[in-house]
Amino acid sequence: MPQISISSISSGRSARAPGESLVGSRRAYLRAVGGFLAVGLPLLSGCDRLKELTGGNSPFKGIDVTGAPYGHGFSLTDMNGVPRTLADYKGQVVMLYFGFVQCPDVCPTALSRASQVMELLGPEQAAKLQVLFVTVDPERDTPELLRDYMAAFDPRFVALRGDAQATQATADAFKVYYKQVPTGSTYTMDHTALSYLFDPQGRFRVALRHEQTADDYAHDIRALLGGA
Ligand code: NI
Repeated sequence: MPQISISSISSGRSARAPGESLVGSRRAYLRAVGGFLAVGLPLLSGCDRLKELTGGNSPFKGIDVTGAPYGHGFSLTDMNGVPRTLADYKGQVVMLYFGFVQCPDVCPTALSRASQVMELLGPEQAAKLQVLFVTVDPERDTPELLRDYMAAFDPRFVALRGDAQATQATADAFKVYYKQVPTGSTYTMDHTALSYLFDPQGRFRVALRHEQTADDYAHDIRALLGGA
């Protein structure tokens, strides 16, 4: 939260133009204090509301979804043809993201951030994180294409794929939205850009927003690895 220190208010006072009366500068001072109150108070209540939404004492920077009645798992096939469920990753933190290979901006940003998070964690903790990318465009995202796409970001990342029905079922299980949007002769996909974290016991715990930083992501992953 931005704070205006007393020194910056008083330096504003001393910076009055030559010839400006003391009354004028006192008015400027009061305007500065009034401005601080007007700006500062709504920010305070904004923080309180955010705390309320994230459950008060949440240890996470992302949205605490612990105990949510959705997000319990998936049953898909990985890019190497191996059937996968959440149970395969027990003992690790799982970061699950929905997207598609031809995504021009959001997915590449999310995956670049994910590789940045791996670096921030360092080799020991990164080994305890499994990044999973679920394609919402199985029609175009073949296993081969998904293998190349993951390798471009981090060879440790795993892409998951289902048929149209399994993809829809998985998205529904996480309240994820996706939709084909026609663009001339082809199409793009609209999709939810949250990243979901599961703790090493396989419990659904955190939803991180696309706007959040790699540091925020690493913070929450460390919290889960540390037993949060
Ligand atoms: Ni995308």
